[in-house]
Amino acid sequence: MAEAPLIEIRNATIFRGSTRVFDHLDLTIGQHEQVAVLGPNGAGKTTLLKVINREIYPVVAENSGVRILGRDDWNVWELRSKIGIVSDDIQQRYKRTTPGLEVVVSGYLSSVGTHGILAGRVTAAQRRHALEVMAELGVAELAATPLQGMSTGQQRRCLLARALVHEPDTLILDEPTAGLDLAASFDYLARIRRQIVSGRNVVLVTHHLNEIPPDIQRVILIREGRVLADGRKAEVLTEDLLCLAYGTKLRLARVDGYYLAYPP
Ligand SMILES: Nc1ncnc2c1ncn2[C@@H]1O[C@H](COP(=O)(O)OP(=O)(O)O)[C@@H](O)[C@H]1O
Ligand SMILES: [Mg+2]
Repeated sequence: MAEAPLIEIRNATIFRGSTRVFDHLDLTIGQHEQVAVLGPNGAGKTTLLKVINREIYPVVAENSGVRILGRDDWNVWELRSKIGIVSDDIQQRYKRTTPGLEVVVSGYLSSVGTHGILAGRVTAAQRRHALEVMAELGVAELAATPLQGMSTGQQRRCLLARALVHEPDTLILDEPTAGLDLAASFDYLARIRRQIVSGRNVVLVTHHLNEIPPDIQRVILIREGRVLADGRKAEVLTEDLLCLAYGTKLRLARVDGYYLAYPP
């Protein structure tokens, strides 16, 4: 039997509040694909990730559905161990006083604030593994440091560690470099590339096309809840399609597998 896709969205209508973000959306992403989802602010990128992560559900209708890893009946907790997520949304849910290790081990609980109940719910082995993952990401020394005492880059690395504690097959990153300076962005992107090389399936959401690592070959370009283009990077990242997506004329350069947009 063929392997089930990571996600299979069929004819979906998706609302956020009273806004219809997607209508008749069809999209399939395989389990071993490296994908970038690109589009301007408000295009629907985060909404799409929330559908994959089962935080929001499409409108129930005939001939429509969402299957994740071949199933439509996921228990959210079970799914969290297969898909690791880094997003500003998740980061915002932590109190600024939460220490690094607590952020990371909370990945095991598939919940956020642990509010002192952590001790009894996380095993010593889990705690050890969390520290190992933190060490790999260069933040082990921040185990006791509250989020507010860390740089944005360090906070983001703790969040990545949180997403990785389950050793998920898939990593979903929603604008992971937002707010990071150049050095921190490059460092983060290098870490993401390492995840790809080590065999993880990465879905990277961004509106900066220069951040798409050369290892990612498929790009899904969206605008206003519509898939404008979906395919190989060289076919999707064209001046015409990007101009359409971003609503501005632009020039495109390609350097060492990266794409750069600059003003006309
Ligand atoms: N909680 C919400 N309630 C109502 N509308 C929302 C909510 N979140 C997002 N939207 C709207 O949904 C659309 C897509 O948003 P989003 O998926 O966050 O876009 P992106 O991540 O591409 O910037 C936008 O028009 C946005 O205003
Ligand atoms: Mg977003």
